[in-house]
Amino acid sequence: MQCRAYLVADEKTRTAAVVDARFDWAPRILDALSREGLTLKYAIDTHTHADHLSGSERLRNLTSCKVVMSGATRSKVADTLARDDDEFELGGQSIRFLHTPGHTPDSMCVLAGNALLTGDTLFIGGSARTDFMGGSAASLFDSFRRLEALGGEIEIHPGHDYNGKHVSTIAEELRSNAAFRERDKAALVARLDVPGPLPNNMAEMLAFNTRAGLAESSIVQPREVNSLGVPGRDFTVVDVRYADEFAAGRMEGAYALPLPEVSLRVHELEKLKRPLLFVCKAGVRATIAMMAARKAGLNECLLLEGGMESWAAAKLPMTSDNGAPRVIAPAATGPSAACAAGGCAAPTVSAHSWSDWII
Ligand SMILES: [Fe+2]
Repeated sequence: MQCRAYLVADEKTRTAAVVDARFDWAPRILDALSREGLTLKYAIDTHTHADHLSGSERLRNLTSCKVVMSGATRSKVADTLARDDDEFELGGQSIRFLHTPGHTPDSMCVLAGNALLTGDTLFIGGSARTDFMGGSAASLFDSFRRLEALGGEIEIHPGHDYNGKHVSTIAEELRSNAAFRERDKAALVARLDVPGPLPNNMAEMLAFNTRAGLAESSIVQPREVNSLGVPGRDFTVVDVRYADEFAAGRMEGAYALPLPEVSLRVHELEKLKRPLLFVCKAGVRATIAMMAARKAGLNECLLLEGGMESWAAAKLPMTSDNGAPRVIAPAATGPSAACAAGGCAAPTVSAHSWSDWII
């Protein structure tokens, strides 16, 4: 499962909106904006995400854009709430918001030209899960009919890629998508009303995504770490990866505290030299651990941008238990359900116009 984010731009005014940006993708999105000469006006979340850290607040910190979410959200991060059928100006164009509850009460789709960004409401060949976070299969059925009424030629661009397809149409989904084409509301409810496993780290993800609070000054680039001094003496590297990842390659003097153990062992951090620099493979687990430490009352917490992947890419020194140090992927932790944790592939970025998308 891969998360998908989209960048919508008005070619003439070079004004842009980003939809469902992940926190760890913010640097790449900024690069794309810079390369294309775009000014970010809106960072839009189609719903309160439970399976990844939203990058909207960070993009606001970095660009002064407005964060847009549904008027039904409980998130404290949004600057602007979109009501059903609201149209927001983007250069000479407008983007339209459709409130499509079902996956969550605050789910919405974004219509830009002929393209419908469906978030987690409608996937290609599948549908949102509705068994948690206040989801409702009956509401999703009604939302499907709303999308159907837009017309068969409308393109579908979903918030996750479950089968390698990136774009479809309303007409194609009506032909081939068993959930979307279901005409019996009770049958759809029966199909979807099955509890599944919750996304990994869901409570932490929700806490992060619904409350603003990670200042840019808390984020350290790999080449800035040197300015913190000597690890262990002037600061502490807290590496929250699994033991096999830690053994394969780490920063000198790093303190091992795997993310699943943070809540049980957070008291250990109180004795360590501050600031605490949280590190993982790419930045997601470290962000969760850092927020947990802050919640436990620990101050002076920092995050390494891009994790050990960025550290290694910058050719900075590493050590290991055996052999040449390297960054390895964590072992699989079990099957992922729809909207479960995963999807760590980076977005690729390409040139775009009004109807093209950075994915
Ligand atoms: Fe979702």
